[in-house]
Amino acid sequence: MSDSRLTGRHSDGDLEFNTSNNPSLGEVIRERQSRRQLLGGMVAVAGLFGLSACGGSDDDKPSAAVINAGQTGASTSGRVVTLNGSATQAKSLTWTQVAGPSVTLSDATSVSPTFIAPSVAATTNLEFRLTAVDGQGRSVSQDTLVTISPAQLGFNAVAKNKNDIVTVPDGYSVSVLYRMGDPILSGVAAFANNGTDTNFAGRAGDHHDGMAFFGLAATGNTRDANSSTRGLLVMNHENITASYLHANGPTAGAARLEAEAIKEIEAHGVSVVEVTQSGGAWTYVQGGALNRRITPNTPMALSGPARGDAQLKTVYSTDGTGARGTINNCANGITAWGSYLTCEENWAGYFRRASGDNANRSAKSVVALNRYGLSQGAAGANNWATVTAANTADQWKFSKWNTTVDTTKAADGTGDYRNEANQYGWVVEIDPYDANSVPRKRTALGRMGHEGAWPAPFVAGRKPVFYMGDDSRGEYFYKFVSATPWSAADANATDRLAIGDKYLDNGTLYVARFDATGQGVWLPLVFGTGVLTAANATYAFANQADVLINTRLAADVLGATKMDRPEWAAVNPANGEVYLTLTNNNASNRPLTGTNAANPRHYNDPVGTTNNYGNPNGHIIRLRETGDTPEATSFQWDIYAFGAGADLDATNINISGLDATNDFSSPDGLWFSRSSNAGGLVNPLLWIQTDDGAYTDVTNCMMLAAMPGRVGDGGARTITNTGTGGATATQSTFVGKAPGMQLRRFLVGPKECEITGIDTTPDGRTLFVNIQHPGENGTASNITSNWPYSQSGTTAGRPRSATIVITKTDGGVIAL
Ligand code: FEO
Ligand code: CA
Ligand code: CA
Repeated sequence: MSDSRLTGRHSDGDLEFNTSNNPSLGEVIRERQSRRQLLGGMVAVAGLFGLSACGGSDDDKPSAAVINAGQTGASTSGRVVTLNGSATQAKSLTWTQVAGPSVTLSDATSVSPTFIAPSVAATTNLEFRLTAVDGQGRSVSQDTLVTISPAQLGFNAVAKNKNDIVTVPDGYSVSVLYRMGDPILSGVAAFANNGTDTNFAGRAGDHHDGMAFFGLAATGNTRDANSSTRGLLVMNHENITASYLHANGPTAGAARLEAEAIKEIEAHGVSVVEVTQSGGAWTYVQGGALNRRITPNTPMALSGPARGDAQLKTVYSTDGTGARGTINNCANGITAWGSYLTCEENWAGYFRRASGDNANRSAKSVVALNRYGLSQGAAGANNWATVTAANTADQWKFSKWNTTVDTTKAADGTGDYRNEANQYGWVVEIDPYDANSVPRKRTALGRMGHEGAWPAPFVAGRKPVFYMGDDSRGEYFYKFVSATPWSAADANATDRLAIGDKYLDNGTLYVARFDATGQGVWLPLVFGTGVLTAANATYAFANQADVLINTRLAADVLGATKMDRPEWAAVNPANGEVYLTLTNNNASNRPLTGTNAANPRHYNDPVGTTNNYGNPNGHIIRLRETGDTPEATSFQWDIYAFGAGADLDATNINISGLDATNDFSSPDGLWFSRSSNAGGLVNPLLWIQTDDGAYTDVTNCMMLAAMPGRVGDGGARTITNTGTGGATATQSTFVGKAPGMQLRRFLVGPKECEITGIDTTPDGRTLFVNIQHPGENGTASNITSNWPYSQSGTTAGRPRSATIVITKTDGGVIAL
């Protein structure tokens, strides 16, 4: 740092500098409960200038400015540090940094500026100089030292509870930003929330889920990836709580009412909404130029190897290149080029397929539909296909949810919706910075119940990689490795979907096999290799498009490892290790003898008096790619943490030694803090969100923060499982070091909610979290949660999914 001492100024009088109410650095340090280090006995460096010119004998001149740069102190990365200077007889003063990693002072001309302690990997000294100039132009300086230690979890755990509010640690505040039904397009009326509202294509959808913040420049619509004060929140609206959407819930009858069905359909999808911070408060901007709703009716393009395949032809897209809409968008991904990846999860449940439909299909088609959960006789959630539209031009919005073959129509599927289900199950890329862009379904990433698609760090010259869970019990874990090495210049391109074409339309899809040795193998889903040929007895694969459209069948025959419902994946930005939530499994899907090393537990965790056998609390597995490169075809794995109540058997169930500060069940959302702030560097924060039905007799769903160790920091274990009737079986596995104090409950949600969706601003000082389906078990006549109204004390009102904003009262990086 340069020394910018002020000299030679003239002034008529002194200024009052010390008007701040900020605590002194010493006080700040004493307030904090963490370990600290005060450097005793350091002698401040003081310099006096200009005294000789004054001669010391001029009795008419006031005495020189007297300053104190404050006591030396200590803090940890990500925290707010206050420099506590003092000055008398000074006309002006300036703080400058003279040593250590560069920081930004809040106001370098104030007596007590603050800064965010930088990320450090080891104890590091920062030195600051306070320089004052008096009315005679005489300058005086003094230095002080602040010692910064690596980041650590800096909050007290929140207790489990069943309150109808979001609870956060002391020192944090919560505000509600963006609720189901909030109008986002201009001219859309305020949300009445009594079941009469219409036009969800202009409002926030329901069931907020995966979410990402995309920075905007201070004005206009230009991307600024570094902005922490203005941006676009892009989020998934996974599902609906229909009982609250209509005046008295869905109207009974054999056929759904069109107005109710269209409301339910449009409440699904994705929203893009501008958010901005002013005076420390965040608001969303109705009518923001980039605001947008993407719904199950929005035109899209199919892209990648399956584009144009015969299995994708419908009456809408007779050449199999187009699609309409996205649904059941669960978790997400982001790209380095500023696009958003939304993931189509349990789309199969929305489709109707009539009894007897098998007789009108090829044997392959029946195998494929059954494998994806669409056996004949499936009724389809919400019965949208029963609607008769008032305007025939709208009939497709309802009819497409019936995937039954119409034998009067063309055999190739171009006359009906027999292939419509193949249009779903994809990862969809959206450019949030262009409200007119047509989203692209990236077929190279496979078709499944896509939970999310989270990238490994983008490294120039290395192929981008995305990790993807398939969320159903017994499904698999995948990754996509692009064919094209990453070129950093593409991060700034403005035609983002063209960049997506470059990296997401060509590559190799792999599925994971977790071996009992603690090692694992990525199995490539490449047509024509191994068993993925037309000679396969289970399913005669025709080409690569067939492999991708029927990803699950291809993974089956390759021998992938069945997992306990793969949910979100997250990648440690510091070391590339990959974490995957396995939310739970049950005895009917996976019996006592059905465990494997990577899914090792089978036990009973009763809910009340009802037995609950299987792996009801779930676990979090992690892997380290061979050579620490995401392009590797093998890996080492262990289990980071097992969900469990703290009261459960410490030997075979609560294997990770959870206690009252961190016990949890059914992990789902999973995310590492961004590497653009101290929360995502050195020892990055891992955030865990729950979607639970097993521990909800004790607590509402929650979010925890952790600083995890590394794959292999624990060791091999053999546990004894117990099934119904007391039968036992042993299972060997690999268990990471117990998390202990490095895992802590940060938040508990309101009643009957799920916590899902998370991001921060790049500076890590604003945390966005989604609260999904509060009061989901209630109805309009039996409301079981009043959240978000209850957050401010109101005990009335239908519950609404919503995005909340969490900030630290002192403005520091969240959780540090
Ligand atoms: Fe939509 Fe897998 O949670
Ligand atoms: Ca989820
Ligand atoms: Ca849910």
